[in-house]
Amino acid sequence: MSSVRLNRYMSVSGAAARRKGEILIRDGRVTVNGAVVTDPAFSVSTGDAVMLDGKPLILEARRRYYVLNKPTGVIVSRGDTHGRATVFDLFAESMDGIFPVGRLDEDTSGVLLLTDDGDLAYRLTHPSYGVEKVYRAEVEGEVSAGDIRRTGEGIVLDDGPASPARMIVLSIGSGVSLVEIVLHEGRKRQVRRMMERLGHPVRVLERISFGGITAKHLPLGSFRPLTGEEIEHLHNESCMKRSRKRNDTP
Ligand code: URA
Repeated sequence: MSSVRLNRYMSVSGAAARRKGEILIRDGRVTVNGAVVTDPAFSVSTGDAVMLDGKPLILEARRRYYVLNKPTGVIVSRGDTHGRATVFDLFAESMDGIFPVGRLDEDTSGVLLLTDDGDLAYRLTHPSYGVEKVYRAEVEGEVSAGDIRRTGEGIVLDDGPASPARMIVLSIGSGVSLVEIVLHEGRKRQVRRMMERLGHPVRVLERISFGGITAKHLPLGSFRPLTGEEIEHLHNESCMKRSRKRNDTP
């Protein structure tokens, strides 16, 4: 870091996401080198001592964040008693302390985030934060307007009603439909169970975005570290409980 805005420093340190950080700064609770700073745009440089309510905020320079374009046929787990390949086999570097953010089924491909930032991982996966996950699914049969409506109302599953979700039909043809489904929660095999319930079993499932992070241009089985902007974006996406988010339509 050479220099960074104070509110960004706060979000990257994990102290508070950007909007909340701005409030804390304006409330005079943040000091830089002992002086209260109330301007969120104040420039913080390497070596500056930043404190919130008198407690030092350390930039978590060692935190690691990755996006993997998960192929099918590997499981999201540290190890497998049946000897199956896991996502960790795809990483050449040491992944000690790193864990997957949520799960993808063995037969699902696409965006899988991995990190050692437990706090962020919790907020990204807990349904109360309602972080958006977008799936593309090839399903059997022709998805109807009624299916879209039922998805938007919340399909009743064995473990209780799913939250209202948005489904967009991308194409329909000869007994198959291609749909995009936007979920704000992540229950076990949720997309497959929802589509099964609608009478459209999933044939192919890919997660194309998690909290706005995509695996565009990443070949299947490859990963890359997230950029600083992407990490900050994830902090902002998960900073507010869903009940308080505005424009919160399914
Ligand atoms: N929904 C599913 O059914 N499977 C996944 O892997 C993710 C979401």
